[in-house]
Amino acid sequence: MLHVKGGTIVTADRTFKADILCDDKGRIASIAPDIATPTGCEVVDAGGLLVMPGGIDPHTHLEMPFMGSVASDDFFTGTAAGLAGGTTSIIDFVIPEVGGSLLGAWKEWRGKAEKAAADYAFHVAVTHWDEQVPKDMETLVNECGVNSFKHFMAYKNALMVDDDVLLHSIRRAGELGALCTVHAENGDAVAYLQAKLLAEGQTGPDAHPRSRPPTVEGEAAQRVIALAGLLDAPVYIVHVSTQEAAHAIANARMRGQRVYGEVLPQHLVFDESVYTNPDWLTAARFVMSPPFRPRHHQQALWAGLTSGQLQTTATDHCCFCAGQKENGRSNFTHIPNGTPGIEDRMSIMWHHGVVSGRLTPQEFVAITSTNTARIFNMYPRKGCIAEGADADLVLWDSTGTRTISAATHHQNVDYNIYEGMTVTGVARRTISAGRVVWDDGDLRVTRGAGQYIARAPLPRGHKAV
Ligand code: URP
Ligand code: ZN
Ligand code: ZN
Ligand code: ZN
Repeated sequence: MLHVKGGTIVTADRTFKADILCDDKGRIASIAPDIATPTGCEVVDAGGLLVMPGGIDPHTHLEMPFMGSVASDDFFTGTAAGLAGGTTSIIDFVIPEVGGSLLGAWKEWRGKAEKAAADYAFHVAVTHWDEQVPKDMETLVNECGVNSFKHFMAYKNALMVDDDVLLHSIRRAGELGALCTVHAENGDAVAYLQAKLLAEGQTGPDAHPRSRPPTVEGEAAQRVIALAGLLDAPVYIVHVSTQEAAHAIANARMRGQRVYGEVLPQHLVFDESVYTNPDWLTAARFVMSPPFRPRHHQQALWAGLTSGQLQTTATDHCCFCAGQKENGRSNFTHIPNGTPGIEDRMSIMWHHGVVSGRLTPQEFVAITSTNTARIFNMYPRKGCIAEGADADLVLWDSTGTRTISAATHHQNVDYNIYEGMTVTGVARRTISAGRVVWDDGDLRVTRGAGQYIARAPLPRGHKAV
């Protein structure tokens, strides 16, 4: 048993002083002021700290094979790094080979994730369509605890699906009570622009954002929203990075469509100037898709989060070390796309969101855990501090500071995009399933302690947030 004593609890809807008692099954047993510590129970002093639901990162790529490399953070190191930053659950992406079995890939990813230190769930990517895919989708929803699928509108000749596949998959997911998530970029337009830039001799990382301008994302976001609207199905757009996509989502919601949008902290913090760094590797390390944007897009993303038109934050944590980024030294289209960040999302969002006055602490909880739990049907087990919920908590020092560095982070990657930034807002302790796994610098994680989160189908008309 664990007694979290003297903290201020912050949930998405209220802030109050109370103690929390966690039972030996890893759940919250009681919440009340001044609980008497049961005999033999470990006490955690939360005095002066905020006690919030552990973060949920709904977008990670741990040990993902991608663009000729495999992402360097695996399910153990990646989830451990998340715990060090206050994130206690992830939803990772199962990526079947094109033409390969969805069910087979899900089983493969279950195997890889057995070493996870924190709880995890899976979205399963639909990368092609044939008679077997809708059957596998049914099995995944009804027997495997999967209630969300992923679609890439970009990465032509690799993971990209066309509108025909999108229509079939969104319709099937709707029948099954699952939610479709989408990487919205027009893959044909990207491929066309990449070829044009290469033909002009533009081979460096600064060509990356030019091959994926904001219109490429805006068009795809509008298109998938229109397709989902035709089918009366909900849709969740991952890593929204442009004003165009943010406005498309807000407009659809105003028309009554159930559309959700996810924001990455890195898109709020960096702009496209990172790609013009004269050091090739420094610039290449920022190559991810969608790319970093001119500043005015960040205003639109913040407005979306404060207004509630964009609901979640994630990291798209996808780590490639220097040797892997080097694959694209002479051709930017071969730089493996992805940036790390699972360990820093909570601090970056607190510093730039709450300390700056854009978000309240309760809104911070909503966009770092509660909304995600609601949208993906894990609430109130996750994203919530209530009796019976999982005892996944972060004890947050709202005024403490730390300087982010690859020299001290726990992510298995040789750089940190936030290198040298000093942020206010620090995870002092992280509690996962009722156990202290991060104690002010001391990471006490256990390989394999993470549990698979089976998620039930969404009821028809599920209005999450
Ligand atoms: O550049 C990125 N985002 N890499 C990971 C794959 C994806 O598109 O999410
Ligand atoms: Zn993506
Ligand atoms: Zn613009
Ligand atoms: Zn991703």
